[in-house]
Amino acid sequence: MARRLSTVAAAYQIAFAKVEKQTLSVLLNNVERRIPAAYVWDHKRHSTSPKTAPSLAPLIRWDPTQVTVNWSTGDQSEISAEWLAKHFAIPEKQSQRFPGSNGKIHWGSDYFSKIPTFDFQTLLKNDQHLLDLFDQLESHGILLVSGAKAESGQLRLLDARFGWLRYTINHAGYSNLMNVKTVENPTTLANTGRRLHLHVDFPFVTYTTSFRCLHCIQQVPRPRAGAGWYCDGFAVADHLRKEDPRAFDILSSYPIEFADSAQREHVQFSTKSWHPMLKLDEDKKQVEGVYISNHAQSSRYLARLKPSLFEWYAAYYQYTRLLHDPRFVIEVKLEPGQILVFENTRVLHGRPEFEARKGEVRHLESICFDRDAVYAKKRALLAKKAA
Ligand code: OGA
Ligand code: ZN
Repeated sequence: MARRLSTVAAAYQIAFAKVEKQTLSVLLNNVERRIPAAYVWDHKRHSTSPKTAPSLAPLIRWDPTQVTVNWSTGDQSEISAEWLAKHFAIPEKQSQRFPGSNGKIHWGSDYFSKIPTFDFQTLLKNDQHLLDLFDQLESHGILLVSGAKAESGQLRLLDARFGWLRYTINHAGYSNLMNVKTVENPTTLANTGRRLHLHVDFPFVTYTTSFRCLHCIQQVPRPRAGAGWYCDGFAVADHLRKEDPRAFDILSSYPIEFADSAQREHVQFSTKSWHPMLKLDEDKKQVEGVYISNHAQSSRYLARLKPSLFEWYAAYYQYTRLLHDPRFVIEVKLEPGQILVFENTRVLHGRPEFEARKGEVRHLESICFDRDAVYAKKRALLAKKAA
């Protein structure tokens, strides 16, 4: 039987093209695209020199599938309709810089029973499970993982799965794995049973870590003791914006100083950084990061802020009161082998005070990883899936 050839119409077609005043104009699927000569030269990679582009001759050839332009150097560039579409007719959905971001979904304390659980062993080998985890992290900023062994070093297995882990300076030195453990003579607040107000970790560096994992290795056996607090700082910021726009303005407008230092034999550092408590995105529309830490906030310079100290503190306390409000905060007690994963500068974490009794140990291990690492991994996994 004779095979019928079907002609599939190209998705993008050129209906007209011209060069005028060093601008290439192309009518691509009824939309006029005006492209500077310098852009064509640069993107067609004739030269590695960023300094200048030669001039574009007015004489060109075109058909529905491609335009051929001539340069004063004698070079020619062929620009296909597909190439033009890829660079100029990007659908809104794909124009986002970050892959598959489906927006943030804010939550309150009623989200507690709905936090999804992922399986540790499956995450190590199943790419779809990992992609689902990335989606959850992006939308809600919080999730649980179960099925890890209750032993040290498990989080390092996630290294290649989460892109790469981040090294940080911390009270114990410089590492990509940190411990929070009740010990007899603690040298840091973390290793006591004292209350930690809701906070972000590492606000004292410019590029704060995006995500954190807390892996429970040992837990205090008594009910509630050893639990942690978690709260969606974006949901609370939104609430504040509606309830008291002036307080929201104050917290989102003035950077404050965060600092941390250690001067011990094996660790010596002094970090400082400045962030507004509520950091807004480029369009100044959404909060894209919360910077709050009772123990890392420096009191210096506050008096120099434009709003008075009275106003600044009223706004600050209003926000922290809301963060700890039962409508927003959840209490999660991790069991050995469980991991809580959260977005550091969105989902604030802390813990109520608990009695660190002799003979009882609460031991959490933690890692940090960054948004760049997650997106890098996600792009690679999505490309593999599409292939
Ligand atoms: C910390 C911390 C949480 C916890 O050490 O920074 O937030 O549950 N610990 O102990
Ligand atoms: Zn912390």
